[in-house]
Amino acid sequence: KSKYKIGFLGMGTVAQGVWRHLEENHSEMSRRLGADYELSLACVRSIAKKRGVDIPAEKLTENPDDVVLNPEIDIVCELMGGVDEAFKLVKKAIELGKIVITANKAMLCEKGAEIFGLLAKNPKSQIFFEASVAGGIPIIKSLREGLVANNFSLIYGILNGTCNYILTRMERENASYDAVLADARRLGYVEADESLDIDGIDSAHKAAVLAYLAYGRWVKLSEMIVTGIRDIRLEDMIWAREFNYRIKLLASIKSDTAAKKISVAVYPALLSLSDVVANVNEVFNAVALEGDLVGRTVHIGRGAGQNATASAVISDIADAFKALNSNSQYVPHSVQNGVEMMPLKDI
Ligand code: NDP
Ligand code: HSE
Repeated sequence: KSKYKIGFLGMGTVAQGVWRHLEENHSEMSRRLGADYELSLACVRSIAKKRGVDIPAEKLTENPDDVVLNPEIDIVCELMGGVDEAFKLVKKAIELGKIVITANKAMLCEKGAEIFGLLAKNPKSQIFFEASVAGGIPIIKSLREGLVANNFSLIYGILNGTCNYILTRMERENASYDAVLADARRLGYVEADESLDIDGIDSAHKAAVLAYLAYGRWVKLSEMIVTGIRDIRLEDMIWAREFNYRIKLLASIKSDTAAKKISVAVYPALLSLSDVVANVNEVFNAVALEGDLVGRTVHIGRGAGQNATASAVISDIADAFKALNSNSQYVPHSVQNGVEMMPLKDI
């Protein structure tokens, strides 16, 4: 095909960033991505809503089937969020052999096993999800490709931009929780349901995606310990600093390689200021990995927001074009099979 057609489910913060960048830089992006493209159609909840990008009326619909069932559309970008409706549409797209791109870590965590089961039965389809973890940091690609040779004894880091932004500004300016949360929302960092961020659930969803890539097992929320930042007070931060620590909301995946067991947890942790991760502030995320061959690597970048996330989605579009050109399915490796969870009481 000389031109690939891209359809969108959702045209909010992230999708608008993708649309704008691909429209405004069309010829250069076509050159870099290796194929020409058309942004064909976007499904939204309400066409009447005012948006930050100018989209012709005929390219908007309120019916998701116009995107998913459209035989012309090669790539479906699911950027609407939520679990059940998004999964229903992704399932249809996979069954139709389309390429799916998603930033939806909640759906991946809850439906990942079903999605990858469907992909196995539909070898023409593929899913790419770089934007689902740590925003603009290419951590999915790093695990799938750059670090493929490694077994990991530990993966930990800051996976939620909203919480890191709140903790940073509380500590730095003694800013009120409500004021900082309002700023984070205005900046496009916060989930539609803010408790997903604040209560650590979004970090847990992302940890599940990383655990799948590193250990080949979909970990359920009920198999993790998950605590958010709701109870953190400025006094806690001041005390931490007295002892050269900083409080960060950490996600950690620890592995007992010999026993083939992993544990996944999200919790506010005291991190020594000598750890680079403790110095990752504002909306930035960090993922530190301990690989048996590579040793320690630390990946840092913006974890949320329109442009950083659009950057990750567009990298998936590049992969989608490669997949469409080569007609072969990209099956993610899993480093270890048969990994089990450590009992929660042992963590
Ligand atoms: P927004 O809330 O800004 O946008 C959601 C879009 O989806 C809106 O255009 C909305 O329509 C549309 N939509 C929602 N539900 C439906 C539905 N049932 N039918 C049709 N359209 C629907 O979300 P974001 O752009 O912030 O996030 C999108 C996804 O990306 C989520 O999964 C999120 O977790 C993930 N993500 C977000 C990041 C960020 O920084 N914001 C970073 C990384 C991932 P309408 O406009 O009419 O309301
Ligand atoms: N709400 C999420 C965060 C968006 O703040 O990290 C990025 O996944």
